[in-house]
Amino acid sequence: MAGERVNRQLVLRRRPRGMLTTEDVELVEGPVPECGDGQVLVRQVYLQMDAAVRSWLDEGHGYLPAVEIGEPVRSGGMGRVIESRHPDIPVGAWCAAGLPGWQDHVAVDGDSPIVNHFPADWDALFQLAVISSPAATAYFGLTDVGELSAGDSVLISAAGGSTGAVAVQVARNLGASVVGIAGTDEKCRWVESLGAEACVNRRTEDLAARLRELRPQGFDVYFDSVGGEVLDIALRRLAPGARVVIVGAISMYNASGRPPGPSNYLNLINTQAKMVGFQGLSYVDRYPEAWDLMWRWKAEGKMEYKADVARGFESCVDQLNSLFTGANTGKALVQLIDDPGPGPY
Ligand SMILES: NC(=O)c1ccc[n+]([C@@H]2O[C@H](COP(=O)([O-])OP(=O)(O)OC[C@H]3O[C@@H](n4cnc5c(N)ncnc54)[C@H](OP(=O)(O)O)[C@@H]3O)[C@@H](O)[C@H]2O)c1
Repeated sequence: MAGERVNRQLVLRRRPRGMLTTEDVELVEGPVPECGDGQVLVRQVYLQMDAAVRSWLDEGHGYLPAVEIGEPVRSGGMGRVIESRHPDIPVGAWCAAGLPGWQDHVAVDGDSPIVNHFPADWDALFQLAVISSPAATAYFGLTDVGELSAGDSVLISAAGGSTGAVAVQVARNLGASVVGIAGTDEKCRWVESLGAEACVNRRTEDLAARLRELRPQGFDVYFDSVGGEVLDIALRRLAPGARVVIVGAISMYNASGRPPGPSNYLNLINTQAKMVGFQGLSYVDRYPEAWDLMWRWKAEGKMEYKADVARGFESCVDQLNSLFTGANTGKALVQLIDDPGPGPY
């Protein structure tokens, strides 16, 4: 890596319509940013592919401003500190530099609350696949918003994806019985291996009939990442007093125009259920609570993960789209380079 003086960036060329295409982005090269006082220079090893990445490319009223044309596509990432001008962050440490985007290098303030650094021998893949965002989303979504209790019956959509797979294990570890929904038999078997009592293939099975058969009394908690038709079917299968946690609506992120409303929402009245939106960022002060629990569960063999890793900038578009086609299992990542290890660089 010594002498590597170029910063490659995959920037937004035009706003996508529907799924991102290779024509919507452009690979450009620029200078490696300078590492200023109090800063660290991070050489990114992994880029995180999250569903939110697609939503940040649209103009609109999201919770973050849209990525501008010419800016690197915004995403999380994780890399090695290759230069440090911060007293407490050593060269060689792993660093998740907030939302550095699709680029090789980023210089960031070491004291920024969204810059997290970890020891050089940290389990970076567990950090990315479980801790980064799924931990807080699954844990607080299920416990705070979903008011989960031991013995509850829980339904989880996109259960073979990164957030869903963590949610399955959180629910199981807290004593709930879990049914998952996923898009392939292979993912369903993996979800069952994580502790779901059953997992329904939404593409090949009659979802409504299978959910009725599996839980005739309905579900106490529905943790929903997908919206659309799956949400509508789940709304028919609520137990009295159920809690529906709206974590995301991935079936709608590439749609143009207004999505259709769920037609079965009147069942919320029949069951006196509630449906509540969840936003992980509002739990930032409590993140360590969820993180500590996930590391403890990992040590106890009660938190597994899969990292779905593709290689190089050229795979970014397909890897992001895999979240929408359902081709990913577990956490979708792009690895830019072999991990250079703790240095020297
Ligand atoms: N609110 C928050 O704070 C927060 C934080 C993190 C993530 N999220 C949300 O959580 C959701 C999952 O995100 P992720 O990054 O963890 O992705 P992911 O679950 O790893 O991947 C997305 C999965 O969604 C399923 N899916 C895609 N299109 C679908 C459709 N049309 N109908 C039904 N299922 C579909 C696919 O699984 P199958 O094909 O196997 O069904 C796909 O694998 C997203 O909605 C995201 O916005 C919210």
